[in-house]
Amino acid sequence: MKTEGGVQPAPFSGRRQSLIEDARRERGSVGSPGPPGPPGPSRYGDMGFVFEEKDGRVTLNLLFTLSNEKNAGFFKTGKIFETFEAKLLHIESRPGRKSKNSTTDLEFFMKCEVHSSDLDVFINSLKRVVDDVRSIPEEKVPWFPRQIKDLDRCNMLVTKFDPDMDQDHPGYSDPEYRKRRAFISELAFRYKQGDQLPTVQYTAEEVSTWREVYLQLRSIYPSLACWQFLDGLQQLETECGYGEERIPQLRDISAFLKEKTGFQLRPVAGLLSARDFLSSLAFRVFQCTQYIRHASAPMHSPEPDCCHELLGHIPMLADKEFAQFSQEIGLASLGASDEDIEKLSTLYWFTVEFGLCKQNGAVKAYGAGLLSSYGELVYALSNEPEYKPFVPEETAVQPYQDQTYQPVYFVSESFEDAKTKMRRYSATIKRPFAVRYEPFTCSVEVLDQPSKIQTALSQIRDDLKTLHSALEKFSFSEEREQMVCRERRVMQEEK
Ligand SMILES: [Fe+2]
Repeated sequence: MKTEGGVQPAPFSGRRQSLIEDARRERGSVGSPGPPGPPGPSRYGDMGFVFEEKDGRVTLNLLFTLSNEKNAGFFKTGKIFETFEAKLLHIESRPGRKSKNSTTDLEFFMKCEVHSSDLDVFINSLKRVVDDVRSIPEEKVPWFPRQIKDLDRCNMLVTKFDPDMDQDHPGYSDPEYRKRRAFISELAFRYKQGDQLPTVQYTAEEVSTWREVYLQLRSIYPSLACWQFLDGLQQLETECGYGEERIPQLRDISAFLKEKTGFQLRPVAGLLSARDFLSSLAFRVFQCTQYIRHASAPMHSPEPDCCHELLGHIPMLADKEFAQFSQEIGLASLGASDEDIEKLSTLYWFTVEFGLCKQNGAVKAYGAGLLSSYGELVYALSNEPEYKPFVPEETAVQPYQDQTYQPVYFVSESFEDAKTKMRRYSATIKRPFAVRYEPFTCSVEVLDQPSKIQTALSQIRDDLKTLHSALEKFSFSEEREQMVCRERRVMQEEK
């Protein structure tokens, strides 16, 4: 059932920055100069592939031939490895297939780790002692964070719609506003993982803008928002000072979310690249702006601001199923190709930002883009837009709209259902490994070797034993309960 909006939606004005657009821009800018960002896939001349760069070291696959005339070559390669402190990870040999002396030549395959700054010299040294040194082309895997502290490197800002650069920005001609934005941005730039979250002493004008947004949206939430959002918002009002009087602080909200769902916040100066933003979700970290929109346009912001984050996103992140769903998108993005990042960004857009779900026979909003926009929230739940069921394969390629309201919204049966579908979709993303989040160390484990998979399986087996034991206890107590009831009934009948 769609809700008839009694209030005329405000017309959409201005453009909206989106992760999808940023993902496209990133794809389009490959090879072109751009702002410095976190390390991506590395290339070193024509030496081909590098799996990853970690602490300045890269992993390299090498092939070379050792001819009969160069028997000592093998030992010399060992010396080169020693000199460059190269770590040998894997070695194989087979009869040479290329040369005429194939019966006596040997072809070697070596996987090794070497310091990136030594790479060229290392390869040239090998060429002097063995023949036909080549790298094996292998699928390039973009760098991605493995530990939560690696998020300090996920800081590539792509937004161009900011008050310093865009004349259409309502704050462009307001030097005080621009100064304020620069000050708050600096807090985010300085932040490192593990630091205490910065607090902002908001001005009376900023609180007034927040109040206007808060009161208008709060009035329509009960009839249009999903119950998870309403539940989360109510808790935030009770425990984190949500209300019209003040703008809540990230520090308080982050502590609240950590207890509820393990999510935590991280300050960010603006819109991040799609890859960086999504990868932080894999660690249950939500990158959150702290500045507020310009006072002259309280009901619309073409860029994310604290009204969008704190009202649109945060209440949903207090829900366990939704938190898990968000993390699934993040995990799927790690090491994914640019093409898959664009699809995941589209999925994010139509779910986390503009998603609808069914509840008790009605359609309700859970997307932050809707829950922080009075006009689009009313429009999305009117009879005007088209609804489609959430099917990741179809949603991922749906053209999106960033100039006006979405012409189509995707409706999930439930978050549980969306999560299951998302997990199934993630499995189809082509990656030469799987990833698993390790909550004890806040790290991502790359499952690319049988031994790692075996260890993960034994952990799951232990968990299953615990659950089995709990189930047995539950069954026994339930049986005992039934027995007691039966006994009572018999006693009453006997009376
Ligand atoms: Fe958002």
